[in-house]
Amino acid sequence: MDELNHQVLEEKPVPPPEEFSKKARVGSMAEYERQYQRSLEDPDGYWGEQAKLLDWVEPPKKILEWDLPHAKWFVGGKLNVSYNCLDRHLGKRGDKTAILWEPEEGEPVPISYRELHARVCRFANALRSLGVGAGDPVAVYLPMIPDLAVVLLACARIGAVHSVVFGGFSSVALADRIRDCNAKVLVTADGGYRRGRVVPLKATADQALESCPSVHSVVVVRRTGEPVNWKQGRDLWFHELSDKASADCPAAPFDSEHPLYILYTSGTTGKPKGVQHTSAGYLLQCAWSMQLIFDLREDDIYWCTADIGWVTGHSYIVYGPLANGATVVMYEGAPDHPAKDRFWQIVERHRVSILYTSPTAIRAFMAWGRQWVDKHDLSSLRLIGSVGEPINPAAWKWYSETVGKNRCPIVDTWWQTETGSILISPLPGATPTKPGSATKPMPGIVPRVVDLRGEPAKPGETGYLVIERPWPSMLRTIYGDDERFRREYWGRIPGVYFTGDAAQCDRDGYFWILGRVDDVIKVAGHRLSTMEIESALVSHDAVAEAAVVARPDEVKGEAVVAFVTLRANAKPSRELNEQISEHVATTIGSIARPAEVRFAQALPKTRSGKIMRRLLRELAQKGSVTGDVTSLEDLAVLEQLARTKGIEEG
Ligand code: PRX
Repeated sequence: MDELNHQVLEEKPVPPPEEFSKKARVGSMAEYERQYQRSLEDPDGYWGEQAKLLDWVEPPKKILEWDLPHAKWFVGGKLNVSYNCLDRHLGKRGDKTAILWEPEEGEPVPISYRELHARVCRFANALRSLGVGAGDPVAVYLPMIPDLAVVLLACARIGAVHSVVFGGFSSVALADRIRDCNAKVLVTADGGYRRGRVVPLKATADQALESCPSVHSVVVVRRTGEPVNWKQGRDLWFHELSDKASADCPAAPFDSEHPLYILYTSGTTGKPKGVQHTSAGYLLQCAWSMQLIFDLREDDIYWCTADIGWVTGHSYIVYGPLANGATVVMYEGAPDHPAKDRFWQIVERHRVSILYTSPTAIRAFMAWGRQWVDKHDLSSLRLIGSVGEPINPAAWKWYSETVGKNRCPIVDTWWQTETGSILISPLPGATPTKPGSATKPMPGIVPRVVDLRGEPAKPGETGYLVIERPWPSMLRTIYGDDERFRREYWGRIPGVYFTGDAAQCDRDGYFWILGRVDDVIKVAGHRLSTMEIESALVSHDAVAEAAVVARPDEVKGEAVVAFVTLRANAKPSRELNEQISEHVATTIGSIARPAEVRFAQALPKTRSGKIMRRLLRELAQKGSVTGDVTSLEDLAVLEQLARTKGIEEG
């Protein structure tokens, strides 16, 4: 934190490259300030004007109805999300590539807007033939293949509500999410490819479905051709259904507030929450922010490296780019397959002009060495972006020099599953940047750094990041748990949206996001809950108690360290250590696998019995007490030490 404080006060902002600013949609700070002021003074006028970016069947009658914490945006308006992403482009952009799919192995597959439209219409009719109608949740568990975008848009077309579960989640995690939203249909694949290996999605889904009685139909995309178990009467091939279905599926209008999707994310308890987004406000803010932040042009080749299983993929691979008629690169696999220059090969091959990736990826590239980057011609790039976790200044500078060749502006974009779209980011032709800062709020967005009473922190002081006003793409509720929505987001500091992030705002009004203040941790940008990992740990037969903390990791940002006490009949051993790690990976997914499992005689606790996580965090950060994974650490000693020093956590 000391290092950061220093930066906050010392770092001089660097203005965007002049060449870039000259052609940019927003080319100066004066223009940004003008828009920002206007958006605050006349929010209805501002958002009403932006709403013209979308095609409406019926224009909205009212911009916002705000009954804290419930917002209704573009009230009375009707539109179809898939029409806005497809049909309206067919006249001018029918032959333009919508999705340029790069499989892990084999030739790239371009899919035009016309073809994507036809596929979406067919699958929308196929869903209807399975009895899916407006408002019905559809669970989706797919690898990064174009069919994933087809399924999302097909749901949107008929008003069904998609709920995508990241393909890296295990059967237990998948089952939890399907049960929570009560989906009747699951769309999955026979498998996917990752580093040349087959990921058996259908087998995992089959296991999950054993405890999901609501699902009556499973639609399976054939990707690998590997044999899979088949349940007659329940399982159906995607291609057979689509081939049978008509390509004529008029886009019916839906209310602005019609639910578009549920996306589960981790929170402060072990139970993931279904973040609910609706149609018009969400789509609009995705489309609008694409234009301002990525300065999108007709001939851009835009590549967001996220997985559609996370919100970044929803907003900035599918909805934002397609609503703008852009060409999006979609990559199926890993950044180091077949070699560590795969990303740069893709940039060169497709002449990618905008690259949007994560700090973890950037730090991995740094570690692999610039020779992998330098082998390729990256002259097509004009703008590069970062998302998902704080980017440290060293990684920012490396990205700027090695990838951006000091020519491309960097947009460090701050947002969350809940915010739906980017809320804090530089505008690339306007905002001078400071490495490590997400800079300034987007028009219409009022973030503040405050203490728990809601009092503003001083410049350079750490506090909680909150958002003061509603915005169109904000979550509307937590599916099936409005009380939790109120409590977690609007009840912590009354009247404002609580982000769960710590931040500082400097004298220039620049925001520096420091990371989470709750039990959420970010491993390689993946959002995990320490509580969820702890429940997975204690579901292992040998584990009595568990506490999970994060420690900083040079590449992944954070890593999971688990402290466990064993049941009386279990003995610490290397095998058991590995078994426990593996158990977490099979219960949640390999993204949650602990970097370290440490056995302890007892966990340090306060007198009232609360685990002293701060001590454990310190211990995890400083390294091992014994350095040996098989031996028991006597953490009671720590506890005593803390007590004698009077450190007790509240
Ligand atoms: O802690 C912040 C971090 O990611 C959290 C949101 O995670 P998730 O819902 O998975 O969405 C990730 C993709 C938008 C935030 O609370 N975060 C996201 N972007 C940044 C960030 N932290 C620092 N800088 C960012 N640019």
